[in-house]
Amino acid sequence: MSLSVVVLISGSGSNLQALIDQSLEGKLDITIKAVISNKADAFGLERAKKANIPAVFIDHKKFSTREEFDASLQYEIDQHKAELVVLAGFMRILTEGFTRHYDGKMLNIHPSLLPKFKGLNTHQRAIDAGDKEHGVSVHFVTGELDAGAVVLQAVTEIEPSDDAESLSKKVHNLEHKIYPLAIKWFSQKRLAYKSGKVMLDSERLSDTGIRYQQDIH
Ligand code: GRF
Repeated sequence: MSLSVVVLISGSGSNLQALIDQSLEGKLDITIKAVISNKADAFGLERAKKANIPAVFIDHKKFSTREEFDASLQYEIDQHKAELVVLAGFMRILTEGFTRHYDGKMLNIHPSLLPKFKGLNTHQRAIDAGDKEHGVSVHFVTGELDAGAVVLQAVTEIEPSDDAESLSKKVHNLEHKIYPLAIKWFSQKRLAYKSGKVMLDSERLSDTGIRYQQDIH
């Protein structure tokens, strides 16, 4: 049976588009029940509408505390009986209670090779650090920002000519490959998160997860 997914966004939603495309192409057995944004003008909401997916805007500015906003978000997600919550460029820090509610059922994609460069401006920070490689990580979400257990990482070289923009493009291309792949594993029940450990095909993954290569399915 198709996996029920709710996707949370704040911006362009190119990762959301990759999921929509792969599910339309029959490569990913998921049903995106709703796309929720905390930004009214997030382009991802347009992408959702175009794909006939309910597009929901919840304005975080209308809530006086994070807890209240998260409670409203949780209510909306649970209306759709989501089996997996996918954070795809959702620019909000989540409360402990919210992350606990979706323990083992919420994934995020972060544009760095975690545990390096948690937080923002990761591409510029990787260049400034003089790193030779950079990349992206898919991880289960826990209460600590960008610190959950990693499932999958993809690496790109930092070339001398790279700036934050060119690097961001390279990383985005990788994101559109690895996020659908990790979600496919989850939908096939090959991927699970139990007591702080990521299991793929019943084997425990290392702290940096699987390293993506073209021939991984
Ligand atoms: C991506 O770089 C992702 O890694 C980060 O937010 C960005 C979202 O991009 N979490 P998009 O909106 O999916 O294009």
